[in-house]
Amino acid sequence: MPVPVAPGRWPVLGHTPAMLRRRFRFTSSLHTHGDVVRIYLGPMETYFLTSPELTHQVLVTDGGSFRKGAMFEKFRPLIGNGLAFADGAFHLRQRRLMQPAFHRDTIARHTEIMARAAAGLIRTWRPGEVREADHDMQALAVGIVGEALFSTELGKAAIEEARRSIPVIVKYGMIRVLAPTFVEKLPIPANRRFDDAIDRMRAIVLELIEDWRAEQADHGDLLSMLLLARDAETGEGMTDQQVHDEVITLLTAGIETSALALSWLFHEIAQNPEVEQKLHDEVDEVLGGRQVTAGDVPQLVYTRQIINEVLRVYPIWILMRRVIKEVELGDVRLPPGSEVIVSPHAMHFDPRFHDHPERFDPGRWTGERAKNLPRGAYVPFGAGTHQCIGNSFAITEITIVVATIAAKWRLVPVPGKPVRVRYTTTAYPSRLPMTVVPRDR
Ligand code: HEM
Repeated sequence: MPVPVAPGRWPVLGHTPAMLRRRFRFTSSLHTHGDVVRIYLGPMETYFLTSPELTHQVLVTDGGSFRKGAMFEKFRPLIGNGLAFADGAFHLRQRRLMQPAFHRDTIARHTEIMARAAAGLIRTWRPGEVREADHDMQALAVGIVGEALFSTELGKAAIEEARRSIPVIVKYGMIRVLAPTFVEKLPIPANRRFDDAIDRMRAIVLELIEDWRAEQADHGDLLSMLLLARDAETGEGMTDQQVHDEVITLLTAGIETSALALSWLFHEIAQNPEVEQKLHDEVDEVLGGRQVTAGDVPQLVYTRQIINEVLRVYPIWILMRRVIKEVELGDVRLPPGSEVIVSPHAMHFDPRFHDHPERFDPGRWTGERAKNLPRGAYVPFGAGTHQCIGNSFAITEITIVVATIAAKWRLVPVPGKPVRVRYTTTAYPSRLPMTVVPRDR
């Protein structure tokens, strides 16, 4: 049977106008046309998957038949061959080398950094002051990942550089990947800012690595772990260039994502007072006024449900993959070279699996329905060999930050300043001014 083509295709431009104008609404409506739907990104034919079974098949069971594909290939020369961009045997080796840096015990060690950073932020707040909450969360996330990576004196300068450069790299990197190739070569400000930010980050990360090689001391931070990591089979470690690429990958993959989740979380609880009240009750009961620790994280059950719901409602839009070995997806056979799109967002907004998907409802994460969700229907961190290596780090970080802030402060929306969702490959708030108010208990 021929694969249906999504409605709204233009000559030459394909579905790009629909993807840009209607974004999430376009892709979350595609399931009405079938499990596999063809969409055209300009002239490029892609297969968009709308069922959890096929999403799971591509990411997990048949993961070996796919590579990361077109978008990642454009990123690689720009950002390097770190874990998020690597493929095949090389990816597997790197994943093994990096895994200990994200082990439960390592993350538990980092909870102190997370709690300290959140406590440091709220110490700067004045009652009744209007803060740009998204900027505060971004600054927190840079500080947390930065300190986890670099604990030395020079590390402090690297964190400051990351504060300046990583948002530029993420923003202009995405524009560069989406633009036609010739645009990359133009001496326009967007390209210059991106190149300068990359150059500055590279210089300071390579300097840190050089410093480390001179001393060979284990500072207990993630950079030391990456430099000390050895392949169990060959005994080989990473080259300086590879350590550099992994550091840049962790900074680009691990800051914006957590900062956005935190921003949306405070936005949503402010819109849903009963959710906020339950969060406060839980935090008060579990912490009883003391600082949050790693041991509290599993006790903060309702907090976790709120986080799950934020990650359902504000996930990554699409992940692309390229077929390298012929596969059968349902009754569709795809030859090598085919480009496939899976969409965490479309999965999370499919009413067949999530009741009233537009409703923010942390309560949906209790009970049988949540336990029996089909695999692939909830994939905020992806799945399979490329599943987010930072997922436990992120959940711990968000829990610790939320508990630290919610124990003492409320963030209240500013009247007359509506927050709109701005879409790129994920959802950004157009702005997020919030008044910070001490909680009276
Ligand atoms: C709420 C926060 C986060 C979200 C929603 C998120 C989401 C994701 C997703 C969906 C992927 C899979 C991409 C794909 O399959 O193509 C991924 C991969 C990755 N993430 Fe995260 N992430 C988060 C936080 C973090 C953090 C804190 C770090 C590190 C400090 C991190 C590092 C990475 C890396 C290195 C990969 C590539 C993994 C691989 O391909 O083996 N992420 N992330």
